[in-house]
Amino acid sequence: MSIAPCTDLDEELQSDDAASPAPANDDLSRRSFLKAAGVLGAGVATGLPHLADAEARAAAAANTGQSVSITLKINGAEQPLTLDTRTSLLDALRENLDLTGSKKGCDHGQCGACTVLLDGRRVNSCLTLAVAAEGAEITTIEGLARGESLHPVQQAFLEHDGFQCGYCTPGQICSAVALLEEAKRGDLSAVTFQGGDVATGTLILDGDEIRERMSGNICRCGAYPNIVSAVWAAYKGASA
Ligand code: FES
Ligand code: FES
Repeated sequence: MSIAPCTDLDEELQSDDAASPAPANDDLSRRSFLKAAGVLGAGVATGLPHLADAEARAAAAANTGQSVSITLKINGAEQPLTLDTRTSLLDALRENLDLTGSKKGCDHGQCGACTVLLDGRRVNSCLTLAVAAEGAEITTIEGLARGESLHPVQQAFLEHDGFQCGYCTPGQICSAVALLEEAKRGDLSAVTFQGGDVATGTLILDGDEIRERMSGNICRCGAYPNIVSAVWAAYKGASA
């Protein structure tokens, strides 16, 4: 597979943009609604509908001798928890802490909807035991924005319409945030080897690289072209 130079990708993206009609008021309303609903993680979810269940599960685990008390550092805050040792990080986030931005798509490590960052590296939280995350800096979609200011990747997803239903979006965005850090470090991918960038020692994050590196995040709505555009725009903004 060949690697298109950035200028080609630029033209490709511009032509995609040109081919897309200007957003209608309905589209703007939809985006405004999703943003207000916290799909892009601009704010921490409100309401605590699961916590009574979580307490009941913790009490049940304590009775079976399978509970453990841990403290997780999530989005900069220490969160003491008593959990069944078998609890996944995803369930701890969603069911115990009501951080429901991370989504459960497959619960089998196949879709990426549950992606969060552990010490800046992306992981599938459905495959990570909560106890194994103790001591790490955990960042979820709720922790990316700074006050009212969206993370540049969140902003790029808004501007490039990188979502439809929004279910995969928190995982896509967390994954893209880590991807940009990987690019800064010069981490290689299978596509890099195919294109020969290894020989030059220079990693250029083009469309093929983005598609390869985001391939663990599935979008059942098929918003892939706009997701690639959003990630590429965030990359260009970060490297400008
Ligand atoms: S819910 Fe974790 S990969 Fe699908
Ligand atoms: S936007 Fe619907 S699953 Fe990706």
